[in-house]
Amino acid sequence: MATVPSAVASNASLSPTRQPSNTFTLPPKVRIVSHPLALHKLSILRDKRVKSRQFREVLDEMALLLAMRSTQGLEVTTTQTLESPISTYQGVKLKDRIAVFPILRAGQGLVDGFLQMLPTARVLHLGLYREKSTLLPVEYFNKLPSECTIDLGYVLDPMIATAGTAIAAVNILKDWGLKRIKFIAIVASREGIESLAKAHPDIDIYVVAVDNELSKVGYIVPGLGDAGDRLYKTH
Ligand code: PRP
Ligand code: URA
Repeated sequence: MATVPSAVASNASLSPTRQPSNTFTLPPKVRIVSHPLALHKLSILRDKRVKSRQFREVLDEMALLLAMRSTQGLEVTTTQTLESPISTYQGVKLKDRIAVFPILRAGQGLVDGFLQMLPTARVLHLGLYREKSTLLPVEYFNKLPSECTIDLGYVLDPMIATAGTAIAAVNILKDWGLKRIKFIAIVASREGIESLAKAHPDIDIYVVAVDNELSKVGYIVPGLGDAGDRLYKTH
């Protein structure tokens, strides 16, 4: 297991009893996407001066990077023999039937970037929000088809805070019959990533940063604020 640095929250915002350590052991199936472009873009997303339009654009660019990284290693299968302008060649295509599962609302901000890389993927929305006082996930939209015909699902949500939402979404998809799941996020809290990996040790999790802290009201610190509100200008 790898030991990685977490983002260190500003000490001013920490209670003396909750000082985080600077490193922690990453669960085995968690991948930190630390490409320099991802780190650069995350720094923009964190900035409270960044308005919705730029937030959406940068989140979209980030989705492209995450799509590239999280599709590495997918299998291809041979198709028919085709012709280039010079000679014949063996055609190939992706083997898996793939769907993306954005968790509404904020997960929708990652869809276009994924579809640029996976244009034939299905898009199946899951509506879950985190109830403000209990921080528990509430399901409000689910139109999954009756039968699961998907081999590999990408669950999209920029934020993993308590991980209640992420765990509930993966539960829904596993109950539906989905066997292979990759969870894609931008920022996770340390406790959230640990909870998600513990609840679902079989799924791959890709995230750009793991921040040390969750505030008393369940916000990731430093985080980037409420991703849905920043995307859709609803705060
Ligand atoms: C945010 C975020 C995650 C969830 C994370 O959604 O997009 O879905 O909170 O929190 P958790 O890990 O503690 O469950 P929110 O409930 O704010 O809904 P929204 O996307 O509609 O804004
Ligand atoms: N949801 C968000 O959008 N941001 C957080 O910091 C926590 C939950």
